[in-house]
Amino acid sequence: MSMDGTEPISGFSRLSKEEKIEMASKLSSDPAAFARELAGFWHHDPEVQRILEEFSENTVSNYYLPFGLAPNFLINDRLYILPMVIEESSVVAAASKNAKFWATRGGFQTEVVSTSKPGHVYFKWKVSRDLLMDQAEGLEKYLIEKTAHLTENMRKRGGGIKSVVIHDLAPEMPGHFKLEAIFETADSMGANFINTCLEAFSRLLPEYFHDQGILIDEYDLEITMAILSNYTPECLVSCKVQCPVEELTGMGVGLKPGEFIEKFKEAIDIANHDPYRAVTHNKGIFNGVDAVVVATGNDYRAIEAAGHAYASKDGKYSSLSNVELSRGIFSFSLHLPMAIGTVGGLTRTHPLARLSMELLGFPDARELMQIIAAAGMANHFAAISSLITSGIQKGHMQMHLSNILNSLGATLDEKETASRYFSDRDVSYRAVEDYLIQLRRSL
Ligand code: MEV
Repeated sequence: MSMDGTEPISGFSRLSKEEKIEMASKLSSDPAAFARELAGFWHHDPEVQRILEEFSENTVSNYYLPFGLAPNFLINDRLYILPMVIEESSVVAAASKNAKFWATRGGFQTEVVSTSKPGHVYFKWKVSRDLLMDQAEGLEKYLIEKTAHLTENMRKRGGGIKSVVIHDLAPEMPGHFKLEAIFETADSMGANFINTCLEAFSRLLPEYFHDQGILIDEYDLEITMAILSNYTPECLVSCKVQCPVEELTGMGVGLKPGEFIEKFKEAIDIANHDPYRAVTHNKGIFNGVDAVVVATGNDYRAIEAAGHAYASKDGKYSSLSNVELSRGIFSFSLHLPMAIGTVGGLTRTHPLARLSMELLGFPDARELMQIIAAAGMANHFAAISSLITSGIQKGHMQMHLSNILNSLGATLDEKETASRYFSDRDVSYRAVEDYLIQLRRSL
């Protein structure tokens, strides 16, 4: 094994945690401090530490992120305190502030639009296309029957395979096809279930065609791959807030009456027109979404990927939200694909994900989809409201101030004095550093 930077390391995964740390610490200027620091973040209960380590491989420590609470989320007439795990300052504050704002205006109205998820087997087919397409119905029946043992439990929970169809990938990829299966996965995110079924389909496909006497040569059918799709436009949740226009007149100090709504609408129009803006606009939604997705132990990469793809569903990347003004009512809504689970995965096994679920009253997947959409809406409304009024830096940098002060090793007294000083001044790393130097000199 080598750590001189010239040879690949082999057998690393077989080392003990302590040996891995010892090896990695050789890259540090202070190996003992490096190892101490990593061990300092181990959980005090070895059993919990073991659980955390087993989520991944080569784990040597835990990476802490803030676990925050955002109260006053009134969602379909029920009040929630949302757990939010996020490193970006001001996201939890903005969520809480806007949840309270909407709680006095009817709250968030959410709805699960659909819950099905697709998966695919991609394959090459050398025999006649028509012969393949003629088998579609028989194949669907065969695959569903032959995987009945794999889907039995899921069917008992209300899920299973809804349909299996064949799509021709020509003209872009002549000779290539995909088998598309649509799944319902009840309260689980369903990745393992879907992939297990799809891999079984890959094995069953040649069998079926051989049985039918259609495949003669083994190269007539070649499976390329089988995998679920993280694009889930039919696993969709919607969230809406609305209120009479007059209730927004106080928004934005210094704005003329009606100007807030006018600028709000312009902000959405700009996002629909300009993808550069739309990506940032939608990112503001994912600030809230991801924070709850992570807190509940769900897969934020899948949610992000699906959301951004969905933003392009009409052929151009645009806003995931929509604003309407009708008969004096301001109505702001969004639709998001949301493939999450409340059983399986980390949801029940990560101690803090479990606590998050408890805080939310152990929601089922449909309820959690709606809670997450409301979190996205709260942060999105907050972002647009700030952008068209004070700008985001004011709130942002005040929160950021404490991070800068911490990174400069400020004491509690110094933090208090600096917060007062910067309450009406622009915050930048340089300005805070200079201020601290002056402050320390003056003492
Ligand atoms: C920052 O994390 C998110 C915003 O940039 C979102 C937006 O611009 O709408 C403020």
